[in-house]
Amino acid sequence: SGKFTYDPGFTSTASCDSAITYIDGDEGVLLHRGYPIGQLAEHSSFMEVSYLLLNGELPNQDELANFSRTITRHTMVHEQLTKFYSGFRRDAHPMAVMCGVVGALSAFYHDSTDIADPQNRTISSHRLIAKIPTIAAMAYKYSVGQPFLYPRNDLSYTGNFLRMTFGVPAEEYEVIPEVERAMDRIFILHADHEQNASTSTVRLAGSSGANPFACIAAGIACLWGPAHGGANEAALNMLREIGTPDKIPHYIERAKDKNDPFRLMGFGHRVYKNYDPRATVMQKTVREVFDALKVNDPLFETALRLEEIALNDPYFVEKKLFPNVDFYSGIILSAIGFPTTMFTVLFALARTVGWVAQWNEMISDPGQKIGRPRQLYTGPTQRDYVPINQR
Ligand code: CMC
Repeated sequence: SGKFTYDPGFTSTASCDSAITYIDGDEGVLLHRGYPIGQLAEHSSFMEVSYLLLNGELPNQDELANFSRTITRHTMVHEQLTKFYSGFRRDAHPMAVMCGVVGALSAFYHDSTDIADPQNRTISSHRLIAKIPTIAAMAYKYSVGQPFLYPRNDLSYTGNFLRMTFGVPAEEYEVIPEVERAMDRIFILHADHEQNASTSTVRLAGSSGANPFACIAAGIACLWGPAHGGANEAALNMLREIGTPDKIPHYIERAKDKNDPFRLMGFGHRVYKNYDPRATVMQKTVREVFDALKVNDPLFETALRLEEIALNDPYFVEKKLFPNVDFYSGIILSAIGFPTTMFTVLFALARTVGWVAQWNEMISDPGQKIGRPRQLYTGPTQRDYVPINQR
């Protein structure tokens, strides 16, 4: 002790150099490779943002076409992998299934363990980005007892995912363009977020030289927690529990009560001390999806009112607690037809590209070392073993 800096939660420790994502939490700014998230959400596509995160520059038309073709070529999973699902209970949480199935991928791609070869790293990266929608859709299909659908490579990345999730072999599935666009935008909004808990987990796992499939499975496990990616599921469950706007003050009081563990889910952020720029886009997207599907979920009114009341309450103002990316996403996902248990799976699907980009950046960094924090020891000093009959 005394030798090490104590920084619980790493609130003031930079763990790496990174050129991928920039956040200014006070100003509410998020840039991917320099491009503002709002512009990417408005004008770009998830495939294009994936290329950007991985390669550092926006692609030209040929580069994007080649990248999309490469990803498309890897969308199928090994037929043996489909057997993993039947080992799970049908009512298993799909995130539990994701941890297991993604972790199992390295058993199918032995080249993934030789990470010193950049070509192996590239193919593993492409396989992960390509197969994660297939694996996620299969987790859903298994939970509802419907047959798995093979990917359709004539569809877009997101259109194919929607069809694998909601289509059935007995009927043609028509992708609704507005829904496809909204889903693609949600993927863009979740694609990367610098050194958050799951990304740091991926980097720490990868720092030992572990293969990328194992590292991403570790990231998925971390993401599941309600303080992180699990918040989108928790936020919608909370809105459902609150129900109507007249119940909001009761829950606001609970969130402020230090003796009550209840928190406003989808509120607050380690880095943002201002409005999360992703939440702004998300809120706009709710209306677009409602218009396209001709639905109107009264929970949206409850959410808007909750935001308004919280942002006018001194507790939330002083602590700089604003809605984060997870506050409005659940309303959209629910309107599209996803059960709440799938929400964090969708986050994992999108974040896979960020994890992969960050993992590649780390492995290529000549200054990279195994992640090995120290501790401040608080246990007993040295003492002698006492035989059991003398204790
Ligand atoms: N509701 C009520 N009070 C809150 C909330 C909240 N959602 N978030 C933070 N606070 C209070 C907290 O009690 C603490 O008060 P005090 O200083 O008096 O002890 C203060 O604000 C600071 O909170 P903290 O927990 O010390 O801050 P942190 O940076 O360690 O935690 C957080 C950040 C996101 C885990 C936290 O705000 C939280 O639990 N939010 C709810 C869960 C959530 O929405 N998570 C999604 C994050 S965005 C998506 C992602 O990247 O995964």
